[in-house]
Amino acid sequence: MNLGGGWNDDPITREDEKTADEVINTCLDLGINFFDHADIYGKGKSEAVFGKVLRSNQGIRSKIIIQSKGGIRFQHPKRYDFSTFHIKSCVEGSLKRLNTDYLDIWLLHRPDPLMEPEEIAEVFSGLKAQGKVRYFGVSNMHLHQIQFLQSYLKDELIVNQIEMSLGHLDWLDEGVLFGNKTGKDLNFTPGTIEYCQMNKIQIQSWGSLAQGIFSGRDATNKPESVRETAKIVKTLSEKYDCSEEGIVLAWLMRHPAGIQPIFGTINPVRIKACNDAVRLSITHEEWYELYVSARGVEMP
Ligand SMILES: NC(=O)c1ccc[n+]([C@@H]2O[C@H](COP(=O)([O-])OP(=O)(O)OC[C@H]3O[C@@H](n4cnc5c(N)ncnc54)[C@H](OP(=O)(O)O)[C@@H]3O)[C@@H](O)[C@H]2O)c1
Repeated sequence: MNLGGGWNDDPITREDEKTADEVINTCLDLGINFFDHADIYGKGKSEAVFGKVLRSNQGIRSKIIIQSKGGIRFQHPKRYDFSTFHIKSCVEGSLKRLNTDYLDIWLLHRPDPLMEPEEIAEVFSGLKAQGKVRYFGVSNMHLHQIQFLQSYLKDELIVNQIEMSLGHLDWLDEGVLFGNKTGKDLNFTPGTIEYCQMNKIQIQSWGSLAQGIFSGRDATNKPESVRETAKIVKTLSEKYDCSEEGIVLAWLMRHPAGIQPIFGTINPVRIKACNDAVRLSITHEEWYELYVSARGVEMP
């Protein structure tokens, strides 16, 4: 999301291209081959700069998985649009900017209250038959929306991308606070995680690093629970001789749902730091220590 020079109309610079090239090659050297895009990121520049790197490195495309999303429109009024015309133009636009003939996965970015599932089923089938998209998924949807859509589709939805991190805990609190008055302000539809697990829908976490607030970013103005949790992250990183980012992501990956963390850093040093997560398996006690600390309140 952060590639391409930002959410503005400035042209892509040589520096932006150099950064994208470095990011992609750092990832590939580490064995990270999954890239998350959306038509809107950087007003299209994130995909475009990625596409420039692909064009000048023809061998890369077959080694990577490209996921993109669409359905959000910024033209006034900002809205969601799952019409045939808009879905097709999102996919065509992403293909063109990314300089590729196909997308491995394409997601509906945020639920459109006006979605017509028959229409979506038809456009998905067409895009698949044309070889433009291999698999489809969703983002920011709860289990009922997924179930509803799925009942019209020929192929299985394979991804649900939602916000999850030590800084965003409703997806866990929803389960542990069932029947408890302290859970009344949570905003996460019960059973969504279990539904995805049962139906082999890959859960991807966005905002996985919580913008760095638990792994080295200045947290002076953040709540005490954040600062305390960052201290625990630091202690664990010393114990496991790894980066703090590694601990933050290993915490997500320790959950039995098999969460795939999507991170947004474009700093090669931080990308390497994130990769430490793959070799870690923190204990149940450590997992809870982080969860309880980040909640800022004891378990019920
Ligand atoms: N489906 C959706 O609705 C949705 C919404 C938002 C995002 N996403 C996806 O999820 C990805 C990750 O989301 P995200 O980028 O919002 O969250 P993130 O991975 O939690 O945070 C990444 C940002 O935090 C900064 N950061 C991390 N650690 C830091 C530290 N120690 N000190 C200072 N800055 C630090 C990074 O800067 P540096 O680059 O300098 O490291 C980067 O700007 C996005 O790239 C996008 O692909 C999806």
